[in-house]
Amino acid sequence: MSGSLVTASYIGATILFILSLGGLSNPETSRRGNLYGMIGMTIAVLATVFGPSVTAAGIPWIIGSMVIGAAVGLYAARIVKMTQMPELVALMHSLVGLAAMLVGFASYIDPSHPLSGAEKTIHELEIYVGILIGAVTFSGSLIAFGKLNGKISGSPMLLPGRHWMNLAGLLVVIWFGGVLIGSESIADGMVPLLVMSVIALLFGIHMVMAIGGADMPVVVSMLNSYSGWAAAATGFMLSNDLLIVIGALVGSSGAILSYIMCRAMNRSFISVIAGGFGTGGGTPAAAGAGAQPAGEVFPILAAETAELLRESKNVIIVPGYGMAVAQAQHTVFEITKLLRAQGVNVRFGIHPVAGRMPGHMNVLLAEAKVPYDIVFEMDELNDDFPKTDVAMIIGANDIVNPGAQDDPTSPIAGMPVLEVWKAKTSIVMKRSMASGYAGVDNPLFYKDNNRMLFGDAKKMLDEVLAILKA
Ligand code: TAP
Repeated sequence: MSGSLVTASYIGATILFILSLGGLSNPETSRRGNLYGMIGMTIAVLATVFGPSVTAAGIPWIIGSMVIGAAVGLYAARIVKMTQMPELVALMHSLVGLAAMLVGFASYIDPSHPLSGAEKTIHELEIYVGILIGAVTFSGSLIAFGKLNGKISGSPMLLPGRHWMNLAGLLVVIWFGGVLIGSESIADGMVPLLVMSVIALLFGIHMVMAIGGADMPVVVSMLNSYSGWAAAATGFMLSNDLLIVIGALVGSSGAILSYIMCRAMNRSFISVIAGGFGTGGGTPAAAGAGAQPAGEVFPILAAETAELLRESKNVIIVPGYGMAVAQAQHTVFEITKLLRAQGVNVRFGIHPVAGRMPGHMNVLLAEAKVPYDIVFEMDELNDDFPKTDVAMIIGANDIVNPGAQDDPTSPIAGMPVLEVWKAKTSIVMKRSMASGYAGVDNPLFYKDNNRMLFGDAKKMLDEVLAILKA
């Protein structure tokens, strides 16, 4: 493939990636967005592999690695459960970081590495920054993976003087950057590169370890952004324009998503970047921290739930992580269809961090074919709860916790929540009184107008559906 054909293919792929991101911003166009992304990536890979920068001898190696990588990816994608998706994403981010590190070291020891002048300085700076971002992304994402799948505790690890340690690490990294630029030989330069890599790896571990469980979604999206910048840095090292553009697209879209999620959780973006965030001014978000709610709980049966729903005019369904675990979305939609056929106005209220990944609930509802025009963002219907007869909460907990508004000592204080307790009746469907992801008790369960429908969401909804049908 000639150089100009490669350039044209890269431009085509870039346009497809931009269209892909645009498509992914809306559930209705997201399939098309995915398709654009897949076509763009195929063009990008073919143009790179068959372009002038790859020699014929390298092609079998590349194809061999692609077959192995594709087989592992295909297997992982087939076996992963929807609820494990954030873990998989975190693991994939770590691989982008590792790749950036490896490409950095390979570029440094490459014999064609320029050995003098401005070219040497620029190339070494690219390598240094690329390895730095790659190492932070690699170790940070591995810790995020461990925290998300519960292998590492979700509570934040706060070392004394941690901000000073980070600052000292940063100064050492800057100083060793100067040492690298001044080094005369590749062997001399390896020392600063290795020292910086160790510091960056430790920084990535430290940064994510210091973050409380409830704030992990922002961290995952922030690491997504870092992985984009790591890819862009790799593009600079390899002089590959497409990689620079894609890396910048991923980096900036991840940063925008992090910002949107910070706003949704009432956190400051700067404190996320600094790490140790969401810890309530230094107090670890331990289970049950904040005032312990107490009082009487009113259980309800499936038959009574069905009766309440049948008698309602306005119903808002709030799905959460438990609906994903129970895979109850199809039954939810069956119930919705039945109620709508009887003239009940049924709508869905989606919290920006419901479930375990951005858009988790939207994906499940789309899979069950729930029409998009009855699915609303939190802000769009939070004012409608006082006019709602029944708010049905399916496997959600933190996102409907009134303590976020009323209890300044709560670890989730300030996080916007769906105000389900303002409905005439709220019905919480979950298996027990256990807390949710943030490990915080929920005063909603003890409110006079709240009812608890205990049991697996799918099983209970099946019962409700059977009664509604009868
Ligand atoms: P959670 O607060 O985690 O609550 C989910 C509830 O579902 C649990 O209390 C659990 O109670 C119940 N549950 C589990 N399995 C169930 C089943 N089979 N049937 C019925 N109920 C079941 O979820 P949420 O309200 O969706 O809030 C999300 C939380 O996750 C937030 O704290 C958020 O910050 C965090 N988070 C979000 C993301 C993103 S990006 N969305 C990523 C990581 C973390 P029982 O055990 O009593 O059944």
